[in-house]
Amino acid sequence: MPESQNGSRQHTTADDITAEVLARFAETSDPRLREIMLGLIRHLHAFVKEVRLSEAEWFQAIEILTAAGKISSDKRQEFILFSDTLGVSMVVDLIDHGKPPGATESTVFGPFHRLGAPDMPPGGNIAFLDKTGKPALVRGRVLDLHGEPVAGALLDVWQAQTNGLYDSQDKALQELHMRGKFHTDADGNYLLRTVVPVHYPIPSDGPVGQMLKAAGRHPWRPAHIHFVVSAEGYEPVTTHIFDRRDPYLESDAVFAVKESLICDFVRHDDADDPEAKRLGIEPPFYTARFDFHLTPAGIETRSTAMDAQQRLAALGAAE
Ligand code: BEZ
Ligand code: FE
Repeated sequence: MPESQNGSRQHTTADDITAEVLARFAETSDPRLREIMLGLIRHLHAFVKEVRLSEAEWFQAIEILTAAGKISSDKRQEFILFSDTLGVSMVVDLIDHGKPPGATESTVFGPFHRLGAPDMPPGGNIAFLDKTGKPALVRGRVLDLHGEPVAGALLDVWQAQTNGLYDSQDKALQELHMRGKFHTDADGNYLLRTVVPVHYPIPSDGPVGQMLKAAGRHPWRPAHIHFVVSAEGYEPVTTHIFDRRDPYLESDAVFAVKESLICDFVRHDDADDPEAKRLGIEPPFYTARFDFHLTPAGIETRSTAMDAQQRLAALGAAE
């Protein structure tokens, strides 16, 4: 880096500027923050140089980030949507929530979890207002890595309605809907009543939607049900189950599909399921079975799972 006659530094190349910015951040005392800032500067500067970003494009990026801030609220998080649709959420998930073999894999949390879902008994119906969906029973067990039942595990469940909207997006609804908390019995069994999940588009009326459109990408997520499964002494797992028949499994807008999370929703045309009969569910109805396998607390090398409460509090949306 050349020095001028009066001794001040002169930047002659973009690399000179990068070097000086790196040198200043090299003073950061927190080692992890230093590592993150130095990596960020290196990659950000390399990106700008690689694409030869024009000032107009740089300003457009500022406008997009400003619009993302303005459209975000306690009900809408455009930055999470950007992270999800750019695949960053799933890369972070893989790095931070890698599971040992046999454990249920995690996937994105998404922006539609809400606190305060009601406690429901086995067979409780989370879709009590959904009159157009196909009735479904989802059942299975929560097990440890040896296949032993986990009694008293909590399953916090949420799902989009058959109209493709979460309750918080549906202007016709004031109350919580398609949400519930279920507990496993002594044998680790859970049972919940709902409707067959549908595919739905992520919110696309903001900057993320503009990005998807400009890139020729669709906004659809394959049909799924969200779960956070937790139990004393185990790592909580944030995950979904997906319907195997869904046409968007290969092109999820947020890259969240994992093979191990796909399950079969089986159609029944006869009243051949004792629990469906007991709950008064008329055929045709569907059943799906999915077992969750939890990792003992402390097995993960980087145990930094945030619970739903912490995530929402961090976004200013805790109730
Ligand atoms: C969801 O499944 O609720 C979701 C996940 C990521 C982005 C948008 C929605
Ligand atoms: Fe969802």
